[in-house]
Amino acid sequence: MTVTSFYNDDLMRLEKVGRQRAMTLASGCDFSSNDYLALAGSAALRSAAMDALARGVSPGSGGSRLLRGNCAEHLGLETDAARFFGSESALFVGSGFAANSLVVSTLPQRGDLILHDELIHASVHEGMRMARAPCQKFAHNDVDAAADAIARWRAKGGCGTPWIAFETLYSMDGNVAPVDDFAALAERAGAMLLIDDAHAVGVCGPEGRGLAAHLHGCENVVTLVTCGKALGCEGALILAPSVLRDFLVNRGRSFIFSTAPSPLIAAIVRESLSIVANADERRQRLRLIIEHAGERLAPLGITPSGMHIQPVPIGEDSRTMRIAEALQARGFDIRGIRPPTVPAGTARLRISLTLNIDEAAVSELATALEDLL
Ligand SMILES: Cc1ncc(COP(=O)(O)O)c(C=O)c1O
Repeated sequence: MTVTSFYNDDLMRLEKVGRQRAMTLASGCDFSSNDYLALAGSAALRSAAMDALARGVSPGSGGSRLLRGNCAEHLGLETDAARFFGSESALFVGSGFAANSLVVSTLPQRGDLILHDELIHASVHEGMRMARAPCQKFAHNDVDAAADAIARWRAKGGCGTPWIAFETLYSMDGNVAPVDDFAALAERAGAMLLIDDAHAVGVCGPEGRGLAAHLHGCENVVTLVTCGKALGCEGALILAPSVLRDFLVNRGRSFIFSTAPSPLIAAIVRESLSIVANADERRQRLRLIIEHAGERLAPLGITPSGMHIQPVPIGEDSRTMRIAEALQARGFDIRGIRPPTVPAGTARLRISLTLNIDEAAVSELATALEDLL
């Protein structure tokens, strides 16, 4: 027995069941990134970075936001974001994962109840592991199930605030939540909404403000906007009433005891927001690619999601990975998604549609899929 034998054994167990992960360099035609508007490597964001450096913005913040790490670029971004999204305030943090775990572990209090969609992202689960309130899942997109859970909890004496967590556009399924029905339930039940708009912002809603754009000013709504997907950068913005932003700043341990994100990245995200606000032409081009994908994939028995995330259900893990590898060998960067990322028995290919590809690439992919499925 060596000190590392536990880790070796565990990795071997993962390998045996075909679940060992490895990082590879990006190659092939991009059907897997979340860079939906092709901003990540764009000339516009490169020159935003160079302009920011030229005017003296630092790559590093040097400390926590509450110490010396708070920079004009962070504050400027938060002001721009609150104005753009129509929320009372915004808070910039290092990643969407960090944002969700900060919000969920800090805002719900003892005596509250956290209800979450059964397919909610791992980062919300991470927050729930640290949360003061108990958690319960409800069936995917099932507003009545969430309402029943609140009613049962109230009947048993639950008198705090229910918090309902859901994604607007599901990252592995490409389907959309009944956002307005959740908002109506929250209104009736005195609940707070934790809305993860990670995959919709930039692509959906007026000026790309996402699928919860109409709810941002509400006092019972907290929304996650990630900056690493359609915005093409990294980090995340928490949109919330000012009192909740102040509470996160004062009580959120991972906010207080962590180095502030790079001011340079904040400056680039500011530019990205202004590009997104004026990107109707990009969104229209992406819409045409999505429609084309639907037309080419439907004859193969694949139900079009109508969105920029298109799952191809396979079921069995090893078959999924074999097909993904065969597609990669033909030059398509498509990943197989297996449990635990998705429920057992629902392994799938996740096709991501972005402006990094065009209709011709989609047609070639459909031909390859026809061969392999
Ligand atoms: C729905 C959802 N929420 C949150 C996150 C985390 O965001 P980030 O990649 O910025 O950490 C992701 C990213 O995978 C996501 O898909």
